[in-house]
Amino acid sequence: MTAELISGKEVAQAKRQDLKQQAAALKEKGIVPGLVVLLVGENPASLSYVKGKVKACEEVGIYSELKRYPETITEEALLKEIEHYNKADHIDGILVQLPLPDHISEHKVIDTISPEKDVDGFHPINVGRMVTGQDAFLSCTPYGIVEMIKYKNIPISGKHVVIVGRSNIVGKPASLLFLRENATVSIAHSRTTNLSEITRQADILVVAAGRENLVSGDDIKEGAVVIDVGMNRSAKGKLVGDVHFESAKEKASYITPIPGGVGPMTITMLLANTLQSAKKRSL
Ligand code: GUN
Repeated sequence: MTAELISGKEVAQAKRQDLKQQAAALKEKGIVPGLVVLLVGENPASLSYVKGKVKACEEVGIYSELKRYPETITEEALLKEIEHYNKADHIDGILVQLPLPDHISEHKVIDTISPEKDVDGFHPINVGRMVTGQDAFLSCTPYGIVEMIKYKNIPISGKHVVIVGRSNIVGKPASLLFLRENATVSIAHSRTTNLSEITRQADILVVAAGRENLVSGDDIKEGAVVIDVGMNRSAKGKLVGDVHFESAKEKASYITPIPGGVGPMTITMLLANTLQSAKKRSL
């Protein structure tokens, strides 16, 4: 079997058209959705991600601010900045790009963002609301993955979804979101001893471990749907995922490419969350 590509780029474009119309409708009511992105330090990958987010906002008609701070900013000063934006009426969403320097607690930063403006869906209140099935901001990468699978009309209910990786940003929220979609969910991670045995059971395999070539064709069941969340630089400087694409595509029924897979969907769901937040202004 040779897999069909799931182009995140294509799904993202379709969704962004819809979001653009929603933003225009809000504008008619006098509401311009606003997102602020806070970036600490000079990490080139982070800078490139946040620039992508700001550009996407522009594309759909969301106002955005990119605020940059030196690596040396104190935790206290950063928390004050967040508190300022918590109170700012023109801002519906606050995103603090991770990772942060070691002297700043990610937990404290996330806990300081108002849950009403937490468009990343990282605040414990939003995570808790998501787990219990209440209205919540859903974490953008898992939300984007589920949306792209649904766009392709691939059934999730009753399927065995195996997630490799247990990060707070992807693995953990993805497991809960798929559970909400009535999947049977297994989570594997770097300490899992029989990884291949488990990944071969997956109807839908989500790999978010941050390790190049962690999963190859031999680790995949014939006909499985493979979602690669990895973003690694190969020795040759090429952007590659966690899945060995060439061997995996011979076993899978569907597979996401790198680039143009999950990445554009993550940004799109951030835009969707910001619009969702702005709509509450009109209530
Ligand atoms: N760093 C890598 N991915 C993300 C994300 O989705 N949100 C934030 N805030 N930081 C990240």
